[in-house]
Order: sequence, then C-alpha cells, then structure tokens
Amino acid sequence: MKINAQAEELNGRIKKLNRSVAELLSEKGRAIYFPKKGILSQSADAKGKEINATIGMALEEDGSSMCLKNLSGRININKDKVFPYAPSYGRPGLRAAWKKKIIEKNSLLKEAVISLPVVTGALTHGLNICGYLFGNPGDKIIMPDLFWGNYRLIFCNANELELNLFKTFDDNGGFNVNGLKEKLAEGPEGKKIVLLNFPNNPTGYTPTVDEVKMIREALLKSAEEGNKIVVIIDDAYFGLVYEEGIYARSIFTELFNLHSNILAVKVDGPTKEDYIWGFRVGFITYGIKDGNEELCKILEDKTAGAVRATISNASNLSQSLLLAAFEDDEYDSEKASKHEILRSRYIHVKKILKEKEDYKNHFEPLPFNSGYFMCIKLKKAGPEEVRQVLLKKYSTGVIAINGIIRVAFSATPDDKLDKLFDNIYQAAKSLAP
Ligand SMILES: Cc1ncc(COP(=O)(O)O)c(C=O)c1O
Repeated sequence: MKINAQAEELNGRIKKLNRSVAELLSEKGRAIYFPKKGILSQSADAKGKEINATIGMALEEDGSSMCLKNLSGRININKDKVFPYAPSYGRPGLRAAWKKKIIEKNSLLKEAVISLPVVTGALTHGLNICGYLFGNPGDKIIMPDLFWGNYRLIFCNANELELNLFKTFDDNGGFNVNGLKEKLAEGPEGKKIVLLNFPNNPTGYTPTVDEVKMIREALLKSAEEGNKIVVIIDDAYFGLVYEEGIYARSIFTELFNLHSNILAVKVDGPTKEDYIWGFRVGFITYGIKDGNEELCKILEDKTAGAVRATISNASNLSQSLLLAAFEDDEYDSEKASKHEILRSRYIHVKKILKEKEDYKNHFEPLPFNSGYFMCIKLKKAGPEEVRQVLLKKYSTGVIAINGIIRVAFSATPDDKLDKLFDNIYQAAKSLAP
C-alpha cells in the first residue's frame, strides 16, 4: 500500500515514541492519517471570512444551517448542534465529558496517560476500526469461545482476521485464565491481538477481582517475554455488575499503564449503558505505559482518519442529545433507577434457578453475574429443538447458539421471568428421551 507523506510522518513519530505500537499497527493502520491538508485545512482557513464558499453543507441566507422546519420543529436542541456535520473526532464537549466519566467510573485511571476518546458510530464501528488499525488479513485474534456473534462479521468478514478461541470457563466455573495464557504462548514471539468483553455477551459473566488480577499477570508476563499485545476491551455492558467481589471497573484500568508492550484499547459507549441502542455513538480510548500525550494524539489522529474513511463522522444529533443528558442533574439518578430494574431481574432469575430443583434435571445455568444476559446448558435436548418448541407451543423466544440457550433478562419483564424459565423447562422436558 502506498503510504501518504502525512501518514509517514505520524509513523515516524510513533516509532520514536513507542516501537511496540508501531509494530502493532496493521498495514492499513500504518497508511491511515487524518488529513491536515486539502479540503479540511482549506475550510479551516476560511472560517470567519466574510464569504466562505468552502463547506460541503447548505446554509440559509443568514448563514445558519439550512434545514427543513419539518425536522427542526421536532428537535428541542439548537439546530447548529444537530444539522451540520460533527467533526470526525466527535464533538469536543462530548469527548471531554466521556473521558471525565471514564475516569470517574474507573478510579485508578490517570488522566494524562489515556487518550481523549474518539467518537465512532457506536461499538460495532469502534470494533471495526480496531480491526482496521491493528489487524492484517490472517492475523489471529485471541478471545474466549463464548462471544458476541457479530465478531465474526466484524473481524473475519470485514477485516479478514481469524478467531483464535479458548474455552471461556475452566472446570471450576471460573474464567479460564490458563486458556488465555496458552493462547498467548502459542506461535512465535511477536504481535498478539486479544479481545476481552466483560460483562460478556452471551454469558453475562464478569471475572472476579482475583481473576482479573490473574488476567493482568498473564498479559504482563507475555509482554515481559517480548510479545507486543494490543488488548481490545469491548466494554459494551460496562457498569452492569450485580454482585460483590466481581470486578466492577473496566479491565482497561488494569492494562492502560501495565507495560510498554501492551496497548490497551477501550471500546465503549452509551448504547447499552445509557439505553440508547439506536443513537449509534461509541468511543475508542487508548492507554499504554509511558505513553505520553503526543502518542495519544497520534493514535487519535489515525482513529479519526479511519472514522473519516468509513462513516465520515457520527451523528451530530445523537452526540448533542447525549451531551445535553450528561449535563442534566437528573441523569445520574435516572440511570441508577434503570440499573436497579436490571439488577432486580437478575436477582429474580438467580432465585428461580435456586428454588426450582427440578430444572437441574434438564438444564444448568452457565456462570453469570452481570450484563443483559444469562445462558443455560441443556442436558437432554438440543438448543435449537427447544427453541422451536418454545416458539411454537409456548409463545417464547430465546437465542440458541453454540450449544447453549441465551436468555435476555434485560428484555423480560419481571413478572414474566418465572413463566419464561418454566416454559424452557417444559419444552426441554417434552424433548427429553
Ligand atoms: C459485546 C457487544 N459488543 C458490542 C456490541 C455493539 O454495540 P453497538 O450497538 O454500540 O454497536 C454489542 C451489541 O449487542 C455487544 O453485545
């Protein structure tokens, strides 16, 4: 791939600042840059001039954003925060507010050594950008074998990576840290790509505080042995932890400053945390030991270049609405009340499974303690057969994947939870030999 001089300049600076980061970038990651010349810089030069005929938007005669009343009349936000393009990096106020929130929610983080989040078209797009920046075709991405199905499309189809899976749980029902260690030790010393997603989709599992320590140690040891590791942290369900002793911060907190061979990439957003699935706003934030502001800024530039190359910029309306919500006094308490609804459903599910001894003849839950979901492993029937019976006879929908059934308690009203599990039980029993 021919590399533009602006990208060369960024790459040269990355190499001087941290060789490992330079080695972790993919071919496309090396080639990308945020254009400082051309249309964008010429538009910036014209800002504030009497006549500015540079921008690719339409303005009214008075210079405000052109828009249809039919649309602006429905939105209770200043139209200049809605109708124009947002910057490819994201709205500056939102980026700053999200960074502040990340630091507040993850007490060990140090402001100076993490980047300013770059706004993406929600987490799916953020994960795609990770594939773009760090994955060459054929590279392997290490992750547990119970994962969000869309990773296949994102990493394998869109970015030509290969999944390198280890068993999610060990024989004691804990996170399989040894599986991760084995995968890190596989193959020659060099670049490794790891993806961690807690709370996990589909299992609803977040490692305990001790398990997180062991994951941290495993990554540290591998980095000390000379491997260069990019850890993609999918924090889609961040904050939805319901038990004591479960790691409640993002694992990014353990990794952002761990070793100069470990680049921690936090992919997060308000999609699940703030219950705005359709807004399509997410963030990518970087952290690496001894990383300074300059390195962070270069990674932000490359990320914004990849945003510009793929979606140009994320929805201005969604970003402005979100920022307005963050600035509202009732935001925190409202969010806490929704968290409580999910937590009480979680507790209800645990109670049902504890009390209904008969269920154990037909299924067992996989370990779960957080998030939107829980999974069950059937003992005497196939998941797809059970799913079909549930649909046809019990008017109940669940997901059958990877030999298990995934139940979204996030989407099931509390007063339907007993019935939901009873239906699964009846369906499984009816299919048992
Ligand atoms: C683990 C995980 N990551 C990422 C996403 C995608 O989130 P978004 O809707 O923000 O693209 C999902 C959505 O289901 C998910 O379960």
